[in-house]
Amino acid sequence: MTTRYRVECETSSMRTATPLKPRRARTAVHRYELSRAWQSMNDLAQTREEAHRRYSEILRDVEVMIDDHIAHQHDAENPFPSKLKLLVPSIGPFFTRLPLEAGFKFQDHKRYISSRRFVSPSFNDVRLILNSAQMMGRDQLRHPPARTFDGDVTLYDDGQSLEPSSPIVPRLIDLLRKNVKIGIVTAAGYTTADKYYARLHGLLDALANTAELTPTQKQSLIIMGGEANYLFEFSPSSPHLLAPVPRCRWLTPEMAAWDERDIAEVLDVAEAALGDCIKTLNLPAVLMRKDRAVGIVADPPSARIPRESLEETVLVVQKVLELSSAGRRGRVPFCAFNGGRDVFVDIGDKSWGVTVCQRWFAGGGNGNSGGDGGAAAIKGDNTLHVGDQFLSAGANDFRARSVGTTAWIASPAETVDLLDELAELMGKKMS
Ligand code: IMP
Ligand code: MG
Repeated sequence: MTTRYRVECETSSMRTATPLKPRRARTAVHRYELSRAWQSMNDLAQTREEAHRRYSEILRDVEVMIDDHIAHQHDAENPFPSKLKLLVPSIGPFFTRLPLEAGFKFQDHKRYISSRRFVSPSFNDVRLILNSAQMMGRDQLRHPPARTFDGDVTLYDDGQSLEPSSPIVPRLIDLLRKNVKIGIVTAAGYTTADKYYARLHGLLDALANTAELTPTQKQSLIIMGGEANYLFEFSPSSPHLLAPVPRCRWLTPEMAAWDERDIAEVLDVAEAALGDCIKTLNLPAVLMRKDRAVGIVADPPSARIPRESLEETVLVVQKVLELSSAGRRGRVPFCAFNGGRDVFVDIGDKSWGVTVCQRWFAGGGNGNSGGDGGAAAIKGDNTLHVGDQFLSAGANDFRARSVGTTAWIASPAETVDLLDELAELMGKKMS
């Protein structure tokens, strides 16, 4: 509009100064419009380059700060905190470098972040830049790596199942073919294989039917349910293609010390607090008590519990548990979280679930690893947990951050993108 307006002004002044024949005037206008368009394209390109340069610089600065933090982590003699620790006191451990500048360039190419003139880099942009940097910063092929995946929202939509048609299925099979170990670490807590088969049948059937994988590669899929409470391994000869693994074969020494009375006490306190929340907040919900968890679920199932009520419930239960005598003794860890439509308190959390996977994979499937005479467990720098719940208040995937690297996705479609990114990087490293 502006260009046209200017062109019209100028052509009218040209007309008064030297009357042009209509055809010559049209050619002049055309040339003028072309030169204006060219100039504005140049302006745009310049703005984009400038934004790209500045964003790259900022991310490089943060990258350098993280490198310095990692150096502090490795220097036990240094009594001073890193600059990053001073800026963000709650910062966790870093298992690998984070090449943020490269991650930004990758995402900028995909999402045209620098080309935007009105919308600045968003939370989602930053989340995806961090994911890409994490993929690039990992040392993927030196040892068999472990990948753990959350279930709901990561592998399938909330409350749904992994169907045979899901694009995630062939990508997981491809990982297994590359000798990657896969753990599905989900909060969904079921004591029997049929329930997990119902949620994961697309993958399990594909695994049973493929001739592409060796038995060892097939054996590299395990399911850790209820955060850290039920372990199943892939077993083509078992009903529902899954065999439960007795706890004595995989509990870490710390987990084996969790006392059943303490567990029952934590769940009793949580149940009472959840019941109070149902009343106080008038929630359309009922209690659900399980062997290693207690939660509230919508009643009727079609009812929607408001997000604010779910958050409030998590915070109330968390606080009540912390102040209870079982909570103060701290002998049994628990995880209270907002599942989007429900609230659950589970015994243990995903840091324990992922730890069990790291030990199980290193022990070649006998769980005999991790400092008690067996092979050393897969380390945090060689582990990647992919999940959707990383907001620190009441988010269950966040706990996995303390034992391995993580990627934060927001939908199964993003998991597909991430797996493609990972496959491309692995392909490059191999070649
Ligand atoms: P995730 O995203 O795979 O970790 O699964 C979380 C969801 O599993 C929750 O939002 C619940 O809807 C569901 N769920 C089913 N059983 C349990 C349980 O025993 N504890 C926690 N969540 C459960
Ligand atoms: Mg989830």
